[in-house]
Amino acid sequence: MIVTADMAISLDGCIAGPNVALDNPGGDGAEPLFEWIHNLASWRERQGMTGGEENRDSELMREWFDATGAVVMGRMMYDTGEEFWGENPPFRTPVFVLTHRPRPTLLKEGGTTFTFVTDGIHSALDQAKAAAGDRNVDIAGGASTVRQYLGEGLIDELQLHVVPALLGDGLRLFEGPGLGRRDLEPVRVVDTPLATHLKYRFVK
Ligand SMILES: NC(=O)c1ccc[n+]([C@@H]2O[C@H](COP(=O)([O-])OP(=O)(O)OC[C@H]3O[C@@H](n4cnc5c(N)ncnc54)[C@H](OP(=O)(O)O)[C@@H]3O)[C@@H](O)[C@H]2O)c1
Repeated sequence: MIVTADMAISLDGCIAGPNVALDNPGGDGAEPLFEWIHNLASWRERQGMTGGEENRDSELMREWFDATGAVVMGRMMYDTGEEFWGENPPFRTPVFVLTHRPRPTLLKEGGTTFTFVTDGIHSALDQAKAAAGDRNVDIAGGASTVRQYLGEGLIDELQLHVVPALLGDGLRLFEGPGLGRRDLEPVRVVDTPLATHLKYRFVK
């Protein structure tokens, strides 16, 4: 079991556009970050739909679903995703949501649960590890959440799906205090017309 983070990112380092809000979940101009995902067969399967493209990108998405036994996310990612994911969210695993505001656990269809964790990133990770069994824990986002786990050296593997777009402005993943210098080993590069998928392992 390892801890992963897997993010769609623009060439200029943004994981969302500016002005993220509940009615603007990816921020302004963020379509290139996410639109390549929506027609992948593996993604559609998880949304309860049929069809879509069976391509290398779809295989990578399926690989992530199969490998992930629990998910940690920030409350902004939860809030901006909740409506889109609906009653049968694609995770089908326990999800631990970091927040300062306690809320009761939500049980959804398909095996997804949302547990709201108010005692910090280590507690959320410990709970996710306990829930994941032999599978990985994924730190799913957003930027604030992934940065904190990166800063504490708690992520083993980072996969970036680099989309061929510059957003110009937005939520940058590798910005802010506490990240420090880190060395990584390249694990894999998969290049498709939709995205360049870069996987790295952190050198401990
Ligand atoms: N490109 C991608 O692959 C990708 C992936 C995921 C998300 N996203 C995007 O990322 C954006 C959201 O990112 P974000 O950086 O704004 O927010 P975020 O990391 O999703 O959530 C931040 C919130 O999480 C809670 N939180 C974070 N750390 C905490 C801690 N240590 N203790 C307690 N609570 C903590 C706080 O919630 P409270 O205010 O409730 O206390 C905080 O306001 C969205 O636009 C989403 O679409 C992109």
